[in-house]
Amino acid sequence: MSIALKTVLSDSAAMQAEIGRICALAPVIPVITIDRVEDAVPMARALVAGGLPVLEVTLRSDAALEAIAAMAAVPGAVVGAGTVVDPSQVERVKAAGARFAVTPGAYPALMDTLLDSGLPFLPGGATPAEMMALLARGIRHQKLFPATVVGGTAMLKAVAGPLSSIRFCPTGGITPENAPEFLALPNVVCVGGSWLTPKSLVKAGDWAAVEALARKAAALR
Ligand code: 3PG
Repeated sequence: MSIALKTVLSDSAAMQAEIGRICALAPVIPVITIDRVEDAVPMARALVAGGLPVLEVTLRSDAALEAIAAMAAVPGAVVGAGTVVDPSQVERVKAAGARFAVTPGAYPALMDTLLDSGLPFLPGGATPAEMMALLARGIRHQKLFPATVVGGTAMLKAVAGPLSSIRFCPTGGITPENAPEFLALPNVVCVGGSWLTPKSLVKAGDWAAVEALARKAAALR
């Protein structure tokens, strides 16, 4: 094996180890879409104080990159970028201080860029074929998306045997009510969800209520 190939493989293994470590930090990753940069720091503080240090900020608003940078400075926060759909976004989120990336789905050019970037990432898969394509590239940590649409816990149970090395973060349709059923599965390392930062609480700046939601979520497993 050439030295160059060995280096890529060992980097990819290190990236898998790191995303696995991040996913194991808490049972729930809040999926955040932020409209006002000034909400970033108090929101991150509330979520971390509630016991959810891993934060996914989606690239769905103009404030996202600035919010990632601001949240990344909050002690204890491990901030990543979500809704990464285009290779051109990868360097930008890295530069903003993201420690990981999350993608709703996977395709070769995006996976190539992420693997080359050294940024740990969690790519979305929805079918066994998609999961296998990721696994063939050494990507064992995957997001099942949209989880409740593509079979939820039944899908996860069905792939646990044939694709036993994959560890999932199901996201999309996860609620405080159904999260325990997902988290009880051996191939689920954490879940993602947007319920931690409801627009009404964020708009009102009710960070105590956000912290309370986080605290409940942190106790789910
Ligand atoms: C998303 O990308 O929007 C996440 O999957 C969150 O989904 P949810 O709003 O159903 O939690």
